[in-house]
Amino acid sequence: MNNTRRRFIKSGLLGSAAVAAGCSTEVSLDDDVQTAAWRPLRILILGGTGFIGPHMVKEALRRGHEVELFNRGKTDSELFPDLKLYVGDRKNGLESLEGGEWDAVVDNSGYVPRYVEESARLLAPAISHYLFISTISVYGDFSQPIDEDTAVGTLEDESVEEVTGETYGPLKAMCEQRVVSEVGAARTTILRPTYICGPGDRTDRYSYWPVRTMRGGEMLWPGTPDDNIQIIDVRDLANFTVDCLEMKINGVYNTVTPKGAFKMGTLLEDCLAVTGADTTPTWVSTEFINSNEVGASGGLPIWEDPNGESSQLLTVDGSRAAAAGLKNRPTRETARDTISWWKTLPADRTASLRAGLSPEREAELLASWHDRND
Ligand SMILES: NC(=O)c1ccc[n+]([C@@H]2O[C@H](COP(=O)([O-])OP(=O)(O)OC[C@H]3O[C@@H](n4cnc5c(N)ncnc54)[C@H](OP(=O)(O)O)[C@@H]3O)[C@@H](O)[C@H]2O)c1
Repeated sequence: MNNTRRRFIKSGLLGSAAVAAGCSTEVSLDDDVQTAAWRPLRILILGGTGFIGPHMVKEALRRGHEVELFNRGKTDSELFPDLKLYVGDRKNGLESLEGGEWDAVVDNSGYVPRYVEESARLLAPAISHYLFISTISVYGDFSQPIDEDTAVGTLEDESVEEVTGETYGPLKAMCEQRVVSEVGAARTTILRPTYICGPGDRTDRYSYWPVRTMRGGEMLWPGTPDDNIQIIDVRDLANFTVDCLEMKINGVYNTVTPKGAFKMGTLLEDCLAVTGADTTPTWVSTEFINSNEVGASGGLPIWEDPNGESSQLLTVDGSRAAAAGLKNRPTRETARDTISWWKTLPADRTASLRAGLSPEREAELLASWHDRND
Protein backbone atom coordinates (compact mmCIF):
# COMPACT_ATOMS: atom_id res chain seq x y z
CA MET A 1 0.00 0.00 0.00
CA ASN A 2 1.41 3.42 -0.86
CA ASN A 3 1.59 6.39 1.45
CA THR A 4 -1.25 8.24 -0.27
CA ARG A 5 -3.57 5.39 0.55
CA ARG A 6 -2.32 5.21 4.09
CA ARG A 7 -2.97 8.88 4.64
CA PHE A 8 -6.48 8.47 3.23
CA ILE A 9 -7.20 5.74 5.71
CA LYS A 10 -5.78 7.73 8.56
CA SER A 11 -7.71 10.89 7.91
CA GLY A 12 -10.93 9.44 6.62
CA LEU A 13 -12.24 6.13 7.66
CA LEU A 14 -10.61 4.70 10.67
CA GLY A 15 -11.60 7.60 12.82
CA SER A 16 -15.22 6.53 12.72
CA ALA A 17 -14.17 2.92 13.16
CA ALA A 18 -12.36 3.91 16.30
CA VAL A 19 -15.42 5.69 17.64
CA ALA A 20 -17.42 2.52 17.17
CA ALA A 21 -14.92 0.68 19.32
CA GLY A 22 -15.18 3.35 21.98
CA CYS A 23 -11.75 4.59 20.91
CA SER A 24 -10.16 7.95 20.37
CA THR A 25 -10.41 9.07 16.77
CA GLU A 26 -6.84 10.38 16.96
CA VAL A 27 -5.28 7.05 16.32
CA SER A 28 -5.78 5.03 13.21
CA LEU A 29 -2.57 3.89 11.60
CA ASP A 30 0.56 3.85 13.67
CA ASP A 31 2.81 6.72 12.65
CA ASP A 32 5.75 4.31 12.52
CA VAL A 33 3.93 2.24 10.00
CA GLN A 34 3.43 5.09 7.62
CA THR A 35 7.10 5.41 6.98
CA ALA A 36 8.54 2.09 8.06
CA ALA A 37 9.60 -0.42 5.49
CA TRP A 38 7.75 -3.70 5.57
CA ARG A 39 9.21 -6.09 8.09
CA PRO A 40 8.24 -9.60 9.09
CA LEU A 41 5.99 -9.74 12.13
CA ARG A 42 5.98 -12.23 14.94
CA ILE A 43 2.34 -13.28 15.18
CA LEU A 44 0.64 -15.35 17.87
CA ILE A 45 -2.64 -17.01 16.88
CA LEU A 46 -5.03 -18.11 19.62
CA GLY A 47 -6.82 -20.91 17.79
CA GLY A 48 -4.86 -21.49 14.58
CA THR A 49 -6.10 -24.97 13.83
CA GLY A 50 -9.89 -24.64 13.57
CA PHE A 51 -11.59 -23.52 10.36
CA ILE A 52 -10.45 -19.95 9.98
CA GLY A 53 -7.11 -20.24 11.79
CA PRO A 54 -5.27 -22.34 9.21
CA HIS A 55 -6.14 -19.89 6.43
CA MET A 56 -4.68 -17.06 8.52
CA VAL A 57 -1.60 -19.07 9.37
CA LYS A 58 -0.97 -19.92 5.73
CA GLU A 59 -1.51 -16.34 4.54
CA ALA A 60 0.81 -14.91 7.21
CA LEU A 61 3.51 -17.48 6.40
CA ARG A 62 3.08 -16.85 2.67
CA ARG A 63 3.84 -13.16 3.29
CA GLY A 64 6.96 -14.00 5.24
CA HIS A 65 5.78 -13.55 8.81
CA GLU A 66 6.66 -15.76 11.75
CA VAL A 67 3.66 -17.54 13.27
CA GLU A 68 3.20 -19.24 16.62
CA LEU A 69 0.10 -20.97 17.94
CA PHE A 70 -1.72 -21.29 21.23
CA ASN A 71 -4.34 -24.00 21.71
CA ARG A 72 -5.06 -27.21 23.59
CA GLY A 73 -3.56 -29.48 20.93
CA LYS A 74 -6.91 -31.18 20.36
CA THR A 75 -7.96 -29.92 16.93
CA ASP A 76 -5.96 -30.98 13.85
CA SER A 77 -2.81 -31.11 15.93
CA GLU A 78 -0.77 -32.49 13.02
CA LEU A 79 -1.53 -29.50 10.77
CA PHE A 80 1.50 -27.31 11.41
CA PRO A 81 4.27 -29.54 12.77
CA ASP A 82 6.94 -26.90 12.11
CA LEU A 83 5.26 -24.09 14.06
CA LYS A 84 5.87 -23.43 17.72
CA LEU A 85 2.82 -24.43 19.75
CA TYR A 86 2.13 -23.07 23.22
CA VAL A 87 -0.16 -25.66 24.72
CA GLY A 88 -2.89 -24.42 27.02
CA ASP A 89 -6.59 -24.06 27.62
CA ARG A 90 -8.04 -20.55 27.68
CA LYS A 91 -10.29 -21.67 30.49
CA ASN A 92 -7.64 -22.56 32.96
CA GLY A 93 -4.12 -22.23 31.71
CA LEU A 94 -2.35 -19.38 29.94
CA GLU A 95 0.97 -20.14 31.68
CA SER A 96 2.72 -21.30 28.52
CA LEU A 97 2.37 -17.75 27.14
CA GLU A 98 3.99 -16.04 30.09
CA GLY A 99 7.21 -14.22 29.23
CA GLY A 100 6.63 -14.34 25.47
CA GLU A 101 6.75 -11.35 23.11
CA TRP A 102 4.97 -10.85 19.82
CA ASP A 103 4.18 -8.02 17.44
CA ALA A 104 0.56 -9.08 17.17
CA VAL A 105 -1.97 -11.57 18.44
CA VAL A 106 -4.98 -12.86 16.51
CA ASP A 107 -7.71 -14.11 18.82
CA ASN A 108 -9.94 -16.59 16.96
CA SER A 109 -11.15 -18.63 19.89
CA GLY A 110 -12.66 -16.07 22.27
CA TYR A 111 -16.29 -16.61 23.25
CA VAL A 112 -16.38 -15.99 27.01
CA PRO A 113 -15.57 -12.46 28.28
CA ARG A 114 -13.71 -13.65 31.39
CA TYR A 115 -11.26 -15.78 29.40
CA VAL A 116 -10.79 -13.15 26.71
CA GLU A 117 -10.08 -10.59 29.41
CA GLU A 118 -7.48 -12.87 31.00
CA SER A 119 -5.64 -13.43 27.73
CA ALA A 120 -5.82 -9.74 26.78
CA ARG A 121 -4.48 -8.70 30.21
CA LEU A 122 -1.62 -11.18 30.05
CA LEU A 123 -0.70 -10.31 26.48
CA ALA A 124 -1.15 -6.51 26.61
CA PRO A 125 2.46 -5.80 27.69
CA ALA A 126 3.82 -8.46 25.32
CA ILE A 127 2.27 -7.32 22.05
CA SER A 128 1.74 -4.18 19.94
CA HIS A 129 -1.56 -5.17 18.40
CA TYR A 130 -4.55 -7.37 19.39
CA LEU A 131 -6.93 -8.48 16.64
CA PHE A 132 -10.14 -10.04 17.90
CA ILE A 133 -12.37 -12.10 15.61
CA SER A 134 -15.91 -11.21 16.59
CA THR A 135 -19.15 -11.62 14.63
CA ILE A 136 -22.05 -9.65 13.18
CA SER A 137 -24.16 -11.50 15.75
CA VAL A 138 -23.07 -8.83 18.24
CA TYR A 139 -25.75 -6.46 16.95
CA GLY A 140 -28.82 -6.20 19.11
CA ASP A 141 -31.52 -5.67 16.49
CA PHE A 142 -31.52 -7.21 13.02
CA SER A 143 -34.73 -5.54 11.94
CA GLN A 144 -32.93 -2.21 11.35
CA PRO A 145 -30.09 -1.31 8.94
CA ILE A 146 -26.73 -2.27 10.42
CA ASP A 147 -23.32 -0.65 10.32
CA GLU A 148 -20.51 -0.61 12.87
CA ASP A 149 -22.20 2.14 14.89
CA THR A 150 -25.36 0.10 15.47
CA ALA A 151 -25.87 -0.77 19.13
CA VAL A 152 -24.67 -4.20 20.21
CA GLY A 153 -26.81 -6.66 22.14
CA THR A 154 -26.57 -7.00 25.90
CA LEU A 155 -27.29 -9.67 28.48
CA GLU A 156 -29.56 -9.03 31.42
CA ASP A 157 -27.29 -11.19 33.53
CA GLU A 158 -23.69 -10.37 32.60
CA SER A 159 -22.35 -13.26 34.63
CA VAL A 160 -23.74 -15.78 32.13
CA GLU A 161 -20.94 -17.72 30.41
CA GLU A 162 -22.82 -20.46 28.62
CA VAL A 163 -22.66 -19.93 24.87
CA THR A 164 -26.05 -20.54 23.26
CA GLY A 165 -27.86 -19.21 20.21
CA GLU A 166 -29.17 -16.36 22.38
CA THR A 167 -26.03 -15.50 24.35
CA TYR A 168 -23.41 -15.95 21.61
CA GLY A 169 -23.75 -12.41 20.16
CA PRO A 170 -23.92 -10.43 23.42
CA LEU A 171 -21.04 -12.49 24.86
CA LYS A 172 -18.90 -11.72 21.83
CA ALA A 173 -19.80 -8.02 22.25
CA MET A 174 -18.60 -8.19 25.85
CA CYS A 175 -15.41 -9.95 24.70
CA GLU A 176 -14.75 -7.05 22.33
CA GLN A 177 -15.19 -4.55 25.17
CA ARG A 178 -12.82 -6.47 27.43
CA VAL A 179 -10.10 -6.48 24.76
CA VAL A 180 -10.45 -2.74 24.26
CA SER A 181 -10.28 -2.03 27.97
CA GLU A 182 -7.25 -4.27 28.54
CA VAL A 183 -5.20 -3.48 25.44
CA GLY A 184 -6.45 -0.02 24.53
CA ALA A 185 -8.41 0.98 21.46
CA ALA A 186 -5.36 2.30 19.64
CA ARG A 187 -3.86 -1.20 19.55
CA THR A 188 -7.05 -3.16 18.92
CA THR A 189 -8.79 -4.36 15.76
CA ILE A 190 -12.19 -6.01 15.88
CA LEU A 191 -13.43 -7.88 12.83
CA ARG A 192 -17.11 -8.83 12.69
CA PRO A 193 -17.59 -11.48 10.01
CA THR A 194 -20.91 -12.72 8.72
CA TYR A 195 -21.26 -16.39 7.67
CA ILE A 196 -17.69 -17.49 7.00
CA CYS A 197 -17.49 -20.00 4.19
CA GLY A 198 -15.19 -21.73 1.73
CA PRO A 199 -12.76 -24.64 1.97
CA GLY A 200 -12.60 -26.12 5.45
CA ASP A 201 -15.98 -24.85 6.70
CA ARG A 202 -17.18 -27.31 9.29
CA THR A 203 -20.73 -25.99 9.55
CA ASP A 204 -21.87 -26.77 5.97
CA ARG A 205 -24.19 -23.77 6.09
CA TYR A 206 -22.94 -22.29 2.84
CA SER A 207 -21.61 -25.61 1.50
CA TYR A 208 -25.15 -27.05 1.58
CA TRP A 209 -26.09 -25.02 -1.49
CA PRO A 210 -23.38 -26.09 -3.96
CA VAL A 211 -23.17 -29.62 -2.56
CA ARG A 212 -26.94 -30.13 -2.76
CA THR A 213 -26.96 -28.67 -6.27
CA MET A 214 -24.30 -31.19 -7.26
CA ARG A 215 -26.70 -34.03 -6.36
CA GLY A 216 -29.07 -32.97 -9.17
CA GLY A 217 -32.82 -33.38 -9.59
CA GLU A 218 -35.48 -30.95 -8.42
CA MET A 219 -34.14 -28.65 -5.68
CA LEU A 220 -36.08 -26.42 -3.33
CA TRP A 221 -34.98 -22.76 -3.21
CA PRO A 222 -36.55 -20.37 -0.72
CA GLY A 223 -38.12 -17.00 -1.46
CA THR A 224 -37.08 -15.30 -4.68
CA PRO A 225 -33.85 -15.04 -6.72
CA ASP A 226 -33.73 -11.39 -5.69
CA ASP A 227 -33.47 -12.08 -1.94
CA ASN A 228 -30.21 -10.73 -0.48
CA ILE A 229 -27.61 -12.92 1.16
CA GLN A 230 -24.14 -12.20 2.53
CA ILE A 231 -21.08 -14.30 3.19
CA ILE A 232 -17.36 -13.80 3.70
CA ASP A 233 -14.93 -16.16 2.03
CA VAL A 234 -12.54 -17.43 4.69
CA ARG A 235 -9.56 -16.57 2.49
CA ASP A 236 -10.72 -12.97 2.09
CA LEU A 237 -11.08 -12.75 5.86
CA ALA A 238 -7.59 -14.18 6.30
CA ASN A 239 -6.11 -11.72 3.79
CA PHE A 240 -7.75 -8.77 5.51
CA THR A 241 -6.66 -10.00 8.91
CA VAL A 242 -3.02 -10.04 7.84
CA ASP A 243 -3.46 -6.65 6.12
CA CYS A 244 -4.71 -5.24 9.42
CA LEU A 245 -1.64 -6.55 11.23
CA GLU A 246 0.81 -5.34 8.62
CA MET A 247 -0.70 -1.86 8.38
CA LYS A 248 -1.84 -1.60 11.97
CA ILE A 249 -5.39 -0.89 10.92
CA ASN A 250 -7.38 -0.55 14.12
CA GLY A 251 -11.06 -0.07 14.91
CA VAL A 252 -14.16 -2.12 14.19
CA TYR A 253 -15.04 -3.62 10.80
CA ASN A 254 -17.95 -5.66 9.48
CA THR A 255 -16.40 -8.20 7.16
CA VAL A 256 -19.05 -9.18 4.60
CA THR A 257 -19.70 -9.24 0.89
CA PRO A 258 -20.90 -5.81 -0.30
CA LYS A 259 -24.43 -5.01 0.82
CA GLY A 260 -26.99 -5.96 -1.82
CA ALA A 261 -24.43 -7.44 -4.21
CA PHE A 262 -25.07 -11.13 -3.58
CA LYS A 263 -28.52 -12.59 -4.16
CA MET A 264 -30.05 -16.04 -3.85
CA GLY A 265 -30.31 -16.07 -7.64
CA THR A 266 -26.57 -15.43 -7.93
CA LEU A 267 -25.91 -18.26 -5.51
CA LEU A 268 -28.03 -20.57 -7.68
CA GLU A 269 -26.15 -19.48 -10.82
CA ASP A 270 -22.82 -20.06 -9.04
CA CYS A 271 -23.91 -23.50 -7.88
CA LEU A 272 -25.12 -24.56 -11.32
CA ALA A 273 -22.00 -23.20 -13.02
CA VAL A 274 -19.46 -24.88 -10.77
CA THR A 275 -21.20 -28.24 -10.50
CA GLY A 276 -22.52 -28.54 -14.06
CA ALA A 277 -25.32 -30.54 -12.44
CA ASP A 278 -28.67 -31.31 -14.00
CA THR A 279 -30.60 -29.55 -11.24
CA THR A 280 -33.98 -27.89 -11.60
CA PRO A 281 -34.70 -25.15 -9.05
CA THR A 282 -38.18 -24.75 -7.62
CA TRP A 283 -38.60 -21.43 -5.82
CA VAL A 284 -41.11 -21.74 -3.02
CA SER A 285 -42.73 -18.75 -1.36
CA THR A 286 -41.56 -17.20 1.88
CA GLU A 287 -45.02 -17.88 3.34
CA PHE A 288 -44.61 -21.57 2.57
CA ILE A 289 -41.16 -21.62 4.20
CA ASN A 290 -42.44 -19.86 7.29
CA SER A 291 -45.49 -22.07 7.66
CA ASN A 292 -43.24 -25.14 7.52
CA GLU A 293 -40.63 -23.55 9.84
CA VAL A 294 -37.70 -24.34 7.58
CA GLY A 295 -35.98 -20.95 7.52
CA ALA A 296 -32.30 -20.31 8.32
CA SER A 297 -32.27 -22.30 11.53
CA GLY A 298 -34.80 -24.89 10.41
CA GLY A 299 -33.17 -26.24 7.27
CA LEU A 300 -32.36 -23.52 4.75
CA PRO A 301 -29.11 -21.99 5.99
CA ILE A 302 -28.06 -18.40 5.32
CA TRP A 303 -31.34 -17.33 3.68
CA GLU A 304 -33.63 -14.99 5.67
CA ASP A 305 -37.20 -13.84 5.18
CA PRO A 306 -36.73 -10.35 3.63
CA ASN A 307 -39.65 -9.08 5.73
CA GLY A 308 -38.87 -11.04 8.88
CA GLU A 309 -37.47 -9.83 12.18
CA SER A 310 -33.90 -10.61 11.04
CA SER A 311 -34.32 -9.07 7.61
CA GLN A 312 -31.19 -6.88 7.95
CA LEU A 313 -28.88 -9.73 8.94
CA LEU A 314 -27.94 -10.25 5.32
CA THR A 315 -27.61 -6.60 4.31
CA VAL A 316 -24.97 -5.45 6.77
CA ASP A 317 -22.92 -2.46 5.67
CA GLY A 318 -19.36 -3.56 4.94
CA SER A 319 -18.19 -0.36 3.26
CA ARG A 320 -15.79 0.57 6.07
CA ALA A 321 -13.79 -2.64 5.67
CA ALA A 322 -13.90 -2.33 1.89
CA ALA A 323 -12.46 1.17 2.13
CA ALA A 324 -9.75 -0.12 4.45
CA GLY A 325 -8.75 -2.77 1.93
CA LEU A 326 -11.00 -5.84 2.34
CA LYS A 327 -11.37 -7.46 -1.05
CA ASN A 328 -14.10 -9.98 -1.77
CA ARG A 329 -13.31 -12.55 -4.42
CA PRO A 330 -16.07 -13.45 -6.92
CA THR A 331 -18.65 -15.62 -5.17
CA ARG A 332 -18.32 -18.15 -7.97
CA GLU A 333 -14.75 -18.78 -6.90
CA THR A 334 -15.99 -19.54 -3.39
CA ALA A 335 -18.53 -22.02 -4.80
CA ARG A 336 -15.93 -23.64 -7.05
CA ASP A 337 -13.35 -24.05 -4.29
CA THR A 338 -15.94 -25.28 -1.80
CA ILE A 339 -16.91 -28.06 -4.20
CA SER A 340 -13.25 -28.90 -4.95
CA TRP A 341 -12.54 -29.11 -1.21
CA TRP A 342 -15.70 -31.14 -0.55
CA LYS A 343 -14.59 -33.74 -3.10
CA THR A 344 -11.39 -34.32 -1.12
CA LEU A 345 -13.23 -35.22 2.11
CA PRO A 346 -13.63 -38.79 3.32
CA ALA A 347 -16.92 -40.58 2.67
CA ASP A 348 -17.98 -40.57 6.31
CA ARG A 349 -17.73 -36.76 6.36
CA THR A 350 -19.68 -36.24 3.14
CA ALA A 351 -22.33 -38.90 3.81
CA SER A 352 -24.64 -36.26 5.22
CA LEU A 353 -24.51 -32.49 5.33
CA ARG A 354 -24.40 -30.80 8.72
CA ALA A 355 -26.85 -28.11 7.60
CA GLY A 356 -29.65 -27.86 5.08
CA LEU A 357 -32.63 -30.05 4.29
CA SER A 358 -32.26 -33.81 4.31
CA PRO A 359 -33.22 -35.41 0.97
CA GLU A 360 -36.35 -36.84 2.60
CA ARG A 361 -37.48 -33.52 4.08
CA GLU A 362 -36.82 -31.69 0.86
CA ALA A 363 -38.87 -34.24 -1.14
CA GLU A 364 -41.70 -33.95 1.37
CA LEU A 365 -41.71 -30.15 1.14
CA LEU A 366 -41.60 -30.16 -2.64
CA ALA A 367 -44.50 -32.62 -2.80
CA SER A 368 -46.51 -30.41 -0.45
CA TRP A 369 -45.66 -27.30 -2.49
CA HIS A 370 -46.78 -28.95 -5.73
CA ASP A 371 -49.97 -30.24 -4.11
CA ARG A 372 -50.90 -26.70 -3.21
CA ASN A 373 -49.79 -24.96 -6.36
CA ASP A 374 -49.98 -27.25 -9.39
N1 LIG B 1 -18.12 -19.85 11.33
C1 LIG B 1 -18.70 -18.69 11.09
O1 LIG B 1 -19.50 -18.56 10.14
C2 LIG B 1 -18.37 -17.50 11.95
C3 LIG B 1 -19.03 -16.30 11.69
C4 LIG B 1 -18.66 -15.18 12.43
C5 LIG B 1 -17.67 -15.25 13.37
N2 LIG B 1 -17.06 -16.42 13.62
C6 LIG B 1 -15.99 -16.45 14.61
O2 LIG B 1 -14.89 -17.16 14.06
C7 LIG B 1 -14.22 -17.88 15.09
C8 LIG B 1 -14.40 -19.36 14.87
O3 LIG B 1 -13.39 -19.83 14.08
P1 LIG B 1 -13.16 -21.40 13.98
O4 LIG B 1 -14.45 -22.07 13.61
O5 LIG B 1 -12.01 -21.56 13.12
O6 LIG B 1 -12.72 -21.65 15.45
P2 LIG B 1 -13.13 -22.58 16.66
O7 LIG B 1 -13.57 -23.89 16.15
O8 LIG B 1 -13.97 -21.89 17.63
O9 LIG B 1 -11.71 -22.63 17.36
C9 LIG B 1 -10.91 -23.56 17.01
C10 LIG B 1 -9.50 -23.19 17.42
O10 LIG B 1 -9.45 -22.70 18.77
C11 LIG B 1 -8.72 -23.62 19.60
N3 LIG B 1 -9.42 -23.71 20.88
C12 LIG B 1 -10.73 -24.03 21.06
N4 LIG B 1 -11.03 -24.00 22.37
C13 LIG B 1 -9.90 -23.64 23.02
C14 LIG B 1 -9.58 -23.43 24.40
N5 LIG B 1 -10.48 -23.60 25.37
N6 LIG B 1 -8.33 -23.06 24.71
C15 LIG B 1 -7.40 -22.89 23.75
N7 LIG B 1 -7.64 -23.07 22.43
C16 LIG B 1 -8.88 -23.45 22.08
C17 LIG B 1 -8.77 -24.94 18.80
O11 LIG B 1 -7.68 -25.78 19.06
P3 LIG B 1 -7.75 -26.91 20.19
O12 LIG B 1 -9.06 -27.62 20.02
O13 LIG B 1 -6.57 -27.77 19.90
O14 LIG B 1 -7.67 -26.21 21.49
C18 LIG B 1 -8.66 -24.42 17.38
O15 LIG B 1 -7.33 -24.06 17.08
C19 LIG B 1 -14.93 -17.55 16.39
O16 LIG B 1 -14.32 -16.45 17.01
C20 LIG B 1 -16.33 -17.18 15.90
O17 LIG B 1 -17.00 -16.36 16.82
C21 LIG B 1 -17.39 -17.56 12.94
